[in-house]
Order: sequence, then structure tokens, then C-alpha cells
Amino acid sequence: MAEILAVRDAMEQALALLNAGAVVAIPTETVYGLAGDATNGAAVTRIFEAKGRPRFNPLIAHVADIAMAERIAGFDPLSRKLAEAFWPGPLTLVLPLREGAGIHPLVTAGLDTVALRMPKGFGGELIGRLGRPLAAPSANSSGRISATTAEAVAADLGPRIKLVVDGGATPVGLESTIVKVDADGLHLLRPGGIAAADIEAIAGVRLRRGATGIQAPGMLASHYAPRAAMRLDAGEVRAGEALLAFGPARAEGWRDAVAIKNLSERGDLAEAAANLFSFMQELDRSKVAAIAVEPVPFDGLGEAINDRLARAAAPRDEPLAGA
Ligand code: TXA
Ligand code: MG
Repeated sequence: MAEILAVRDAMEQALALLNAGAVVAIPTETVYGLAGDATNGAAVTRIFEAKGRPRFNPLIAHVADIAMAERIAGFDPLSRKLAEAFWPGPLTLVLPLREGAGIHPLVTAGLDTVALRMPKGFGGELIGRLGRPLAAPSANSSGRISATTAEAVAADLGPRIKLVVDGGATPVGLESTIVKVDADGLHLLRPGGIAAADIEAIAGVRLRRGATGIQAPGMLASHYAPRAAMRLDAGEVRAGEALLAFGPARAEGWRDAVAIKNLSERGDLAEAAANLFSFMQELDRSKVAAIAVEPVPFDGLGEAINDRLARAAAPRDEPLAGA
């Protein structure tokens, strides 16, 4: 069973485990990551095994600084501008992989591109001390809801890993926004913890969505799946349903809901993002059969919140690939 150590006590043990090719769950500002040395094939294999993640779904390589990122990938001017504006932070850039960069091919699933991100806080410090990039998908079993607390990581992956570094609840609560620059422009591959409009404000160009043929390979329809069925944009609560609410107004019949969690009483999207995964998990743990979800606006972080809700509500007959 994994040991849970607070951030202030965990650095040396985390380093020792990573140097030995083991995996360690670490806090980032977005969600918890299941980290392993991105240059070590055995370590990367352990990540895929612990998550039950299909090997065709590539991982994000996390770096300590832009110098480390530039040793791994080639930066076009726009990607560099975005890195300078948003790193460290919840932005992942998909970039051409440099030959001989040392990233194990399992990390990129053999692609000639690599997804890079510089995390805030403990993760960034850990990578700096290790001196090598860390491959880290979200620290959850493949297809399940991403973990935003050390307890959620331990409950899911505890028997399969040695150490969970506890940094408290992750402040952003949604995975990073993934973008890619190519000859056609700037593409949004996954909405996430930085709103599209904030990226466009720095980039000076619009983000292109969908139909690019370069979607993040892990973005299958059913993802972030709770056990309970999810019913979106609910205007009323039906018999036996729990309610995932948003804002001050209540769906009809809310008094009969078997459980209620409000993502943000005051209708604040950043607060809702931070609460989303843990509230979905909490309602799911109460063993309800179905969760009615009140409408959440699409602006700002609402795009990523609605993306995760749609995946959580998608039919489960497709294989739960991705993570
Ligand atoms: O906030 C986050 O991004 C968290 C924390 C731990 O950093 N990580 C995370 O990793 O969400 P993961 O593995 O759950 O999601 C990474 C996504 C996947 O959808 C994968 O398909 C995509 O990034 N991806 C990775 N490499 C790619 C590439 N070369 N081209 C396109 N998409 C890529
Ligand atoms: Mg994931």
C-alpha cells in the first residue's frame, strides 16, 4: 500500500524512487500526476501498467524550465511565446521531438511530436533536482476520474504504487489545456485549466477547434467515467437522482435529490473547476444510480468543465481508453 507523505517530507524519498525507476504520485496545480523518469523505458512501462493505460496513448513530459524543454523539442516562435506567458502553469504544448533528446519512445507512443508542460510547485522542483523530465499522466486508473487529492490517488492506485506525495487539493482541478501550432495555425487539442480566450489574448490569433485530424489520441468519447449515469443540462431532478448543481438557482425537484453538491454556489467557473472531479467522485461513492447535472455556461473555464462532463456522460460501450 502506498505511503502518503506531505510535500515538505517527501522530496528525498521521491527522488530516490524516481532514480530507481519507480513511479511516484505527485501533486501539480492541475491534478495529481503519476510520475516516472521519461528517459527510462522501465519506469514509463510501470506508469502504463499502474494505470491500465493503452500504450498508443502518449504521455506528457514535464520539465523544470524552458532550457530543459528546448533540449527535448523544437519551438516555433508562437509556442515559445505561449510557454513564456503561461509556464509554469496548466498549458501543454505539442511540439516536434528533437532526435536524440532521450525521451523514451513509449512516452510519445512513437510519434514525432512530444507534449511538454512545466508544472508549478513541488513537481517543478522535483524535476529540477532529478535533472531529467518526468512523464506523468493523471494519477487515476485509465478511463476514471482524475484525482485532485492524495486520498483519491491512494484509494485508486494505492496498492500499485509506493508513494503518494500529498500537496493538498489541487488548485485548478482540471487537466492542462493542450495546444499545437502547425502550418494551419494554433489548434486546441484539449480544453483545460487555462481558458481558450486567455491563450488567444497572448497568441493574437484564434484557437482552431476540432476536425484537425491531430486530436489528442487519448480523447475518446467515454472518459472521466463515474460509475453512476450522468444526465447533463438537467432542468429537473428525477426520482432516485443525485444533483450536481451550479450557481444560486436550483433545478426543479431539487429537494427530492438523494444527494446534492454545488460546484459553485456563486456561479464562479474557477471554483467549479476546482470542485468538479472531487464532487463527481463524492456523489459516485454514495452509490447513486444517476446524477443530474445543472447547465454550466461554456465561457472561460466552462468549456473544459463541459468537455469533462460530456465525457463523463458518454455511453460506456466504447473501450475506456485514454486517461
Ligand atoms: O494537467 C495535466 O495535463 C495532467 C498533469 C498530471 O500534468 N496530465 C494529464 O496527462 O492530463 P494525461 O496523460 O492524462 O493526458 C495527456 C493527454 C492525452 O490525451 C494524450 O493523448 C495527449 O495528452 N498527448 C500526449 N502526447 C501527445 C502528442 N504528441 N500529440 C497529441 N496529443 C498528445
Ligand atoms: Mg488523464
